[in-house]
Amino acid sequence: MEYLLVIVTSYLIGSIPNGLIIGQKFYNVDLRQFGSKNIGATNAYRILGPWPASWVFLTDAIKGIAGVLIGQYIGQTAVAEMFGGMGAIAGHNWSILLGFKGGRGVATGLGVIAMLAPKVTIIVFVIWVIIVCFTRYVSLASIIAAALVPVSMWLLNSRQEFFYFGVLAALFVIIRHRPNIERLLTGTESKIKAGSKTEP
Ligand code: G3P
Repeated sequence: MEYLLVIVTSYLIGSIPNGLIIGQKFYNVDLRQFGSKNIGATNAYRILGPWPASWVFLTDAIKGIAGVLIGQYIGQTAVAEMFGGMGAIAGHNWSILLGFKGGRGVATGLGVIAMLAPKVTIIVFVIWVIIVCFTRYVSLASIIAAALVPVSMWLLNSRQEFFYFGVLAALFVIIRHRPNIERLLTGTESKIKAGSKTEP
């Protein structure tokens, strides 16, 4: 029963569409109409620029941190923390407030991983930055970084529960990148560039 409470609470927090709220309230822009049409920090960077993107990233990451803290507080076990993290990522990716649509789960997932496995966070973040710098494809960097989460957890002997979480979280992130994967394969994925709002 406690685990269910953790999952539902963290899912509801994860469902808060920060990118959409920040875009609409402060810039009068619905991110779902522009660029990749994603509500995450990458599309906020692409359409609105670095500052709004930083806020979207930070607030989305906080949802992941909150999910784990909810697990800690209510369930008080590693499994509860993991469920809290999963709930937050699921809420972000399939938000109840957006008709079960949502983002890709990268920033929220990073917030969760930062709480569960800080060393893994540093490793995958550094790899993510290197790939973005070399290719300018954020999606490619996110997909590879997500896949490397369980691998790094395994190499660093993280708790078994967290390793399973890493596998599931990586799957959640990769599944949500399906449109990006299709664009990458057809050579139509856009390279990252700040504040380049295009027509819907
Ligand atoms: O974190 C999301 C990123 O990997 C892709 O974002 O807007 O290019 O679909 P976007």
